Order: sequence, then C-alpha cells, then structure tokens
Amino acid sequence: MYLIGIDIGTSGTKTVLFDEELNTVAQAVAEYPLYQPQNGWAEQDPADWWNAVCVTAKEVIQKSGADPSAIAGIGLSGQMHGLVMLDKEDNVIRPSIIWCDQRTGKECEQITDIIGKEKLIEITANPALTGFTASKIMWVKNHEPENFARCAKIMLPKDYIRYMLTGEFATEVSDASGMQLLDVPKRNWSEYVLEKLGIDRGMLGKMYESYEITGKVSRCAAEKCGLAEGTPVVGGAGDQAAGGIGNGIVTEGVVSATIGTSGVVFAHTDKLSIDPAGRVHTFCHAVPGAWHIMGVTQAAGLSFKWIRDTMFASEKLAADELGVDANYLLDKICEKSPVGANGLIYLPYLMGERTPHLDADARGVFFGLSAIHDKRDMLRAVMEGVVFSLCDCMGIIKNMGVDPKTVYASGGGAASTLWRQMLADAFNMPVSVNNSVQGGAMGVAILAGVGSGIYPNIPDTCRRFISEKKRSEPNKESAAVYEKTYRLYENLYTALKDSFKTLADINNG
Ligand code: XUL
Repeated sequence: MYLIGIDIGTSGTKTVLFDEELNTVAQAVAEYPLYQPQNGWAEQDPADWWNAVCVTAKEVIQKSGADPSAIAGIGLSGQMHGLVMLDKEDNVIRPSIIWCDQRTGKECEQITDIIGKEKLIEITANPALTGFTASKIMWVKNHEPENFARCAKIMLPKDYIRYMLTGEFATEVSDASGMQLLDVPKRNWSEYVLEKLGIDRGMLGKMYESYEITGKVSRCAAEKCGLAEGTPVVGGAGDQAAGGIGNGIVTEGVVSATIGTSGVVFAHTDKLSIDPAGRVHTFCHAVPGAWHIMGVTQAAGLSFKWIRDTMFASEKLAADELGVDANYLLDKICEKSPVGANGLIYLPYLMGERTPHLDADARGVFFGLSAIHDKRDMLRAVMEGVVFSLCDCMGIIKNMGVDPKTVYASGGGAASTLWRQMLADAFNMPVSVNNSVQGGAMGVAILAGVGSGIYPNIPDTCRRFISEKKRSEPNKESAAVYEKTYRLYENLYTALKDSFKTLADINNG
C-alpha cells in the first residue's frame, strides 16, 4: 500500500508518494505566483493551488507506476490562515488573502474592541493577529460588503483542496486554530466569537481531528488527478503541525527549531498552555488531545535570502556556474567572520515581527556597524540575528513550562552545519537533525496512515520511523559570547520601538 502527502505551500505545492515504510517513492512540485497588489498585501488564486495538486498528483503516479487503487489514504497540509470564500454556486469570490498579508491592522483593533483582549486570548488562545483569518474576513466585510454578502462558504487553503477532491466541506483542529474562530481549549468552533463577529456558523465546515477520514476522492477529481475514486482523504494539518508530526514533535520535551522563510520554535504539550501576553501561538496539535505552542519570527530564511541576493549575488552566480551549492559557499564565507560577527548585531525584522514583539512596524537593523566590518561580518550577523530571534521564541516557551530535552533543527536552514552550530551555542544545548526529509508532507502521510488503519497511532509511528541522524554539541566559548550578545540584542528592540512607529508614519505619509 501507498500513502500520499500533499503540501499546499506559498511558493508551490509538493506532492509525495510514500510506501508503507515511509520511503519516498516519487515526488513532484508545481509552483505558482504570489500577487502583491499593494505594499503589505499578499494574495493567491485558489485555482492555481488546485491545478498544482492535479498536476503533481498525476506526476507522482506516472513516475512511480503505482496502482492508484493501492493508495490507502491522502493527507493534506498547507499554508495556514488564508481566506477562501465561495458563493452559493461554489465559485471563488475573490483571490485568497493569505497568511503574510498585513492589511488588517484596523480589523484586529475592531476584533479586540468587540470581544475584549483577555476574552479573545481565553477562547482563541491568541490575540488578534493580522495574519489570522478572522481579521481577513472582517476586512472583506468592511471593504467589500458586496463580496461578503455573496459568501456562502469560508475555508482555508488546504480545505479548499479537500472540497475539490472530495466535495466535503470540512476542516480539522490544527489549521482551524489559526482562524481565530475556534475555541482552542474545546477544539471546536466558538459560537461566542462567531456571533460577536457576525459570522454565520453555516459558512464554516465540519470539524474533525486531524487523522480522521473526512471524505473520499470523487470520480471527477479522480479523473483530474489520476487517483482512484473512493481514496480516503484525512483531515491533515496546517503546515506547522504537519511539520511537527513529520519531525516527530509528538511528545512532551521534544522541540523543533525551524529555519524556513519564517523561523519557528515548536513544542508539543499535553496540557493546554496559553501565554497570557499572546507572544507565542497556542494551537490544537494534529495529535488528538494535545496542543502545540509555537513562536514565530517572520524573516528567518528570508533574511538570509535577502543578504545572499543583495550582497552575494556574484558569489551565488559563480557557485551556480560551478555546480556548487551557493548556501554551502556562503557558510564557508561566513566562517571567516568570528563568533559574534566582530561586534555587529542584526535585528531580523524585515517583515515586521510576531514573536515576541507582535509589531508590524518593526524593521531590520544592523547595530554596531563600524569601518572594520565587511560583508562577511554582515552575513554572520544576519545568521546570528535569526538565531537570537529563535532564542526569544525558545525563552518564552521555556517560561511556559516546556522543558526541551531534544531540539531538532529543521527547514532549509537546518541543512547548514554552521547554522545548526549557532543554534546549539545560542541555546546552549545540543541541537540534532533527524532522518525525516519530507517534513509536512510526511507528517500528513502519517496522519493518512493512522486514519486508514495502516499505523496504530501517531506517536508510535513517529517513534518507528523518525530518529536522530546528527547532533551539534554547544561550544562553551561561543555560548558565552552569545549569552552576552543576546542580552544586548534583547534591549535593542525596546530602545527602537517608538522609532519603528515613527518610521512607519513617515513612510505612510
Ligand atoms: C503559521 C504561519 C506559516 C504559514 C505559511 O502561523 O503563518 O507557517 O502557515 O507557511
């Protein structure tokens, strides 16, 4: 038997066909555009996601030669928070306003005024956030009332794919947690929040736990995707919870530090634990009866990509021409600058910040720049700044009672030995990588395996297939440098907070 994991990401959709031992049999990726009609806006076309799912599903079946009727289950993962609205005839009403769109500052104030800050955190486990779906719905209500009036169904990106695949209007607890309409402790829609925000319960899908079967592939979708009619589709998970399962973060004490476009410290918790200040997110985990806490820094890999593309373009070009991995080359260049980057500190706020500051106006900073510095120091400062920002996340999570015994580095940044060492030194604890390479796609394939009865449960399956591959031990001297530098790093945001606001006011005219 086989399992399929489909991850509907921001830059593209990745579909992976696994065998029962969770070996990758075939994988395919299809990319699509991100539209930015205004500064700070971000939209995508749901038709592009569906097209990418059809193309990649067909491709993995063709490449592998697998019999589609031997696929025991499909799991869906994807970018969280995006708003998809359908009318009564199931037409998409407007482009999806996606997770990184920042247009809804006023709507967040509106939601907080209507519900009250404490009450909102008590029910949805999070303060009002521009990234979350509720503020996007309110924006459409406020700015496009004609679109809101036509709206019959509201769904998340991966749940739109479920609807196209199975015809079932459903979601699951982990992704729904990021809508700010869920009662996170009770793992179901909050009637109270829905009523206060004037959103009809009928506009939202049926709620499932992540491993449960939500529907079966329809004949029409089977033809479009090369799948077998009747293949079960389980709930799946938002990309972070899916990545959590795929990295084995399914028991207390195991934590991941992910450097993708954004940076995330993710912890499993058996007891509901909410930061009263709302600096980290508490969401339902894709493990039944468990939650996860995560701190998110907006620009982790994005900061690296920014400095690579702006200051190391010729090195990247040379690496590409020589067939060498450009990121590996940049690691080697970075190593020429000492730990602490010769006293240069970088604040990674290129896209505002979530954890711990929740400030859309914050912007990136190089602090301590002097004539001795060169671009190698700037590169090291960027990588260290991202690590400090993950220390912010880790600090809050620890204060909430999580005692990390094992930290797994994951995401594109985890491929860098140097970055993993920086994490170990700055956290002052060992940082490991595991054998799991497919992250979220594998996470939802595990859910599909549990839902279709191939595997007994999520934690046992993770234990069976996911194990430590490499470990970086902290270096005492480097840890001491980072401890001092981090203390200064922490103070810099406080010192600059008002100036960020003034700068935003100047920029907004
Ligand atoms: C999680 C988050 C991102 C998006 C896009 O809160 O905003 O992980 O899901 O990847």
